[in-house]
Amino acid sequence: MNILLTGGAGYIASHTIIELDKAGHSVFVVDNFANSQPEALKRVSTIIGKEVSCMEADVRDRQAMDNLFSLHKFDAVIHFAGLKAVGESVAKPLEYYENNMNATFVLLDAMRRHGCKNIIFSSSATVYGNPAIIPITEECPKGHCTNPYGQTKSMLEEVLTDVQKADPEWNVVLLRYFNPIGAHSSGLIGENPNGIPNNLMPYITQTAIGIRKELGVFGNDYDTPDGTGVRDYIHVCDLAAGHVAALQAIQRGCGLAVYNLGTGHGYSVLDVVNAFQKVNGVKVPYSIRPRRPGDIATCYCNPAKAMSELGWKARFGIEEMCRDSWNFQRNNPNGYECNQD
Ligand code: NAD
Ligand code: WQD
Repeated sequence: MNILLTGGAGYIASHTIIELDKAGHSVFVVDNFANSQPEALKRVSTIIGKEVSCMEADVRDRQAMDNLFSLHKFDAVIHFAGLKAVGESVAKPLEYYENNMNATFVLLDAMRRHGCKNIIFSSSATVYGNPAIIPITEECPKGHCTNPYGQTKSMLEEVLTDVQKADPEWNVVLLRYFNPIGAHSSGLIGENPNGIPNNLMPYITQTAIGIRKELGVFGNDYDTPDGTGVRDYIHVCDLAAGHVAALQAIQRGCGLAVYNLGTGHGYSVLDVVNAFQKVNGVKVPYSIRPRRPGDIATCYCNPAKAMSELGWKARFGIEEMCRDSWNFQRNNPNGYECNQD
């Protein structure tokens, strides 16, 4: 299929290009590089041995999207583009609502007008709020999102659901990602956050390499086996493969479909720190800090639906995730800024 990836230079999308290419799909990227660099796409080109077609544009730009859809015939869109930093979304709610909502409205309108009615949307486990059921199935009711970022994901799921309901020609797949970490085994691409990382794994790798002094562990008094927060970490390459599987659902004419993409295993913050130290033979100094506002104790999924309906399941374990995250950090101590000709 001919696939458009919005936000295609980002962390998850750059890994997804590789899986799509392996499966024989053609890809085209649109990105405004608000949170990514063209260098990521150059490196993907090196990995797959061919140029990645890309247009630099903002998905909110109606004219640009119109031109794009006039020039290319896409069979489906994978909509990754969005701002994703939870803390920043609390400080800048308007920017988050404006970017994430409007980009999706403009995209859906362009798709509709150009007759492309197949979309995979990057949703998040955040839509479950403090989950009512553990492990979380897709039937678990959505919960209260404590931040504007999460609200945009939850609202966009509703928007997409209504679009599909109004016109059953649409195929809409909502993929609820759990916690993606890891990197491509080449060490060429990986997660490259700007500034101080919000998420656990980039904070761990930056501490291990000496950019940060120590990891703050946000709370050890949760109702979990060791008191620290438990999450469903998933290797980004497994997550990427989930998108290829979701395209098969679209090809079958799935209508509206929702899938959790996680491993089904919960690991605590200290489990991850210990696995990272053991696998990589490096120290990660840490200290216990107060809980981070908005955090929940435990979040992991039941991924059985993706297995039974898409034939997809995660292959990599926590050791491989820690190994590959460290491999990318070590090869790129300054992110994508180094190793450039
Ligand atoms: P990322 O920031 O690396 O990638 C997002 C990409 O979208 C970036 O390249 C950015 O430049 C681009 N972008 C943002 N707004 C745009 C716009 N208006 N026009 C064009 N391009 C735009 O993030 P990621 O971690 O790869 O996440 C991809 C998607 O998955 C996002 O929608 C994110 O919310 C969602 N998601 C991420 C996680 C996670 O933990 N990383 C978890 C669940 C869901
Ligand atoms: C994981 C665990 C922290 C950093 C977020 C978003 C979610 C999704 C994935 C996009 C928690 C602890 C973290 C640190 C720590 N993103 N931690 N010290 O919060 O599960 O999910 O990213 O959709 O929407 O909310 O991920 O990596 O921030 O935290 O102790 O410096 O690590 O408290 O228990 P989270 P995370």
